[in-house]
Amino acid sequence: MQWTTEQRYTRIEDISEKDWKELKKQVDRSPWRQTYHIQPETGLLNDPNGFSFYNGEYHLFYQWFPLGPVHGIKYWYHTKSKDLVHWENAGIAIRPNDEIDSHGAYSGSGIEHNGQLYLMYTGNTRDEQWVRHPKQNIAVMDEQGIIKKWETPVIDHVPDGYTDHFRDPKVWKENNTFYSIIGAQRIDKTGCAVLYSSPDMKNWTFKGEIQTDLPHFGYMWECPDYFTVDGQGIFVFSPQGIAPDGDQYHNIYQSGYVLGNLDVQTQTMQHSEFHELDRGFDFYAPQTMEAPDGRRILVGWMGLPEMAYPTDEHGWAHCLTLPREITIENGRLMQRPVRELKNLRGIKMEASAQLHDEVKTFDSFSGTAFELVCSFEIQDADSCGIEIRVNETEKTVITYDAIHQRLSLDRTYSGALADSEYGTVRSCFLDTKHVTFHLFVDSSSLELFVNDGLEVFTSRIFPSEDCTGIRFFAKGGRASCQAVKWTIGG
Ligand code: FRU
Repeated sequence: MQWTTEQRYTRIEDISEKDWKELKKQVDRSPWRQTYHIQPETGLLNDPNGFSFYNGEYHLFYQWFPLGPVHGIKYWYHTKSKDLVHWENAGIAIRPNDEIDSHGAYSGSGIEHNGQLYLMYTGNTRDEQWVRHPKQNIAVMDEQGIIKKWETPVIDHVPDGYTDHFRDPKVWKENNTFYSIIGAQRIDKTGCAVLYSSPDMKNWTFKGEIQTDLPHFGYMWECPDYFTVDGQGIFVFSPQGIAPDGDQYHNIYQSGYVLGNLDVQTQTMQHSEFHELDRGFDFYAPQTMEAPDGRRILVGWMGLPEMAYPTDEHGWAHCLTLPREITIENGRLMQRPVRELKNLRGIKMEASAQLHDEVKTFDSFSGTAFELVCSFEIQDADSCGIEIRVNETEKTVITYDAIHQRLSLDRTYSGALADSEYGTVRSCFLDTKHVTFHLFVDSSSLELFVNDGLEVFTSRIFPSEDCTGIRFFAKGGRASCQAVKWTIGG
């Protein structure tokens, strides 16, 4: 179905109770509703926003168009949790119903200040000629969870030299000063990020553009995020307009990081090369926060802009990733599922086998929502791996090719396909004799952590409901395999 501009700009407040219930019924019938991921009740979810810890709880908001699987007018929806894994829906947080955000409450971040949670976000507004006028706004949440918007933007215009693509403020505090890094596009249509500072979250001063070694890297940088882990600066952003290069950049848009310390006085940064954060098909616009114990936690949108997904016909689209812990080890960025995910574990099963050019199944190793840790010790096999969500005709295959030292995720036969125009296999280089796959599978997704967080592949999959099989294989020789599986939920 083609959505008209009018339909995209229809607000949830303007539809009848009856239409709303119909939409919810349609969504509830979808076979691909997730069981332990954050997903929208209806409509479309995109970027994680305002990820923070405040008043004893984690708060995670997301971009939401309530009325259908399209990028219509955006709201902020609020979820909260005590342990990062059991999330409670807390309702709409920011409605795009004011002059300062009339065409969408776009992405932003959260920070505690004076005992309240300050949410800095982009108010997307358009004039009669449909020209965009982004404003950077503040909404403040108190201990009761009541959120109030400030009436006036704190940054009401785009700085000179940049286009109206100016959005997604990420705030942090350093030496009693607040900093906000904002995604921008130069007049020459190249992407970058700019920096503002403030003593009080109210009065903001333009400091300048972040000077990187990537002056011509895509046409827009969305959702920038800057933080340090053990003194190492990490700059995460989502550049648009990068061409595929080897194993990298095969999705419509990218998200990744450079390692480098930002000098907030000069806005300069000496940094490493850009690396993609995730090797899978569906990952974009990640945001991080610092947990009370100092861990740096990242959540991403498990989806991409401008792509059709099989759940569209059921009235909803997308979910968020599980939270991951970011560390720097031996100069490399590692990503591990947060330890709190153990709280979701149900029945445990263990199995091991010596595989010799064969495909094996283990009793009771099946399911549609589970956690699986599987280690392969490769003797002389050419390749080894796992097939999940298997039935007679469908399967999702994870392979380690020991000959070419390549790791791949193949969703060619995973069932219904999300836009296959961008290919159905993703791979990367990995040199190892011992490969461990740590998998989180839900009704319509998988998150694969390889060798203790060295690589991550995040993907939606849309298999038939009877795809419950799990198979282990070694080809062209021997590999031993040890597997532990936990049910999650029901
Ligand atoms: C990234 C993004 C942001 C914007 C938001 C709008 O996916 O385009 O740049 O703030 O989504 O929903």
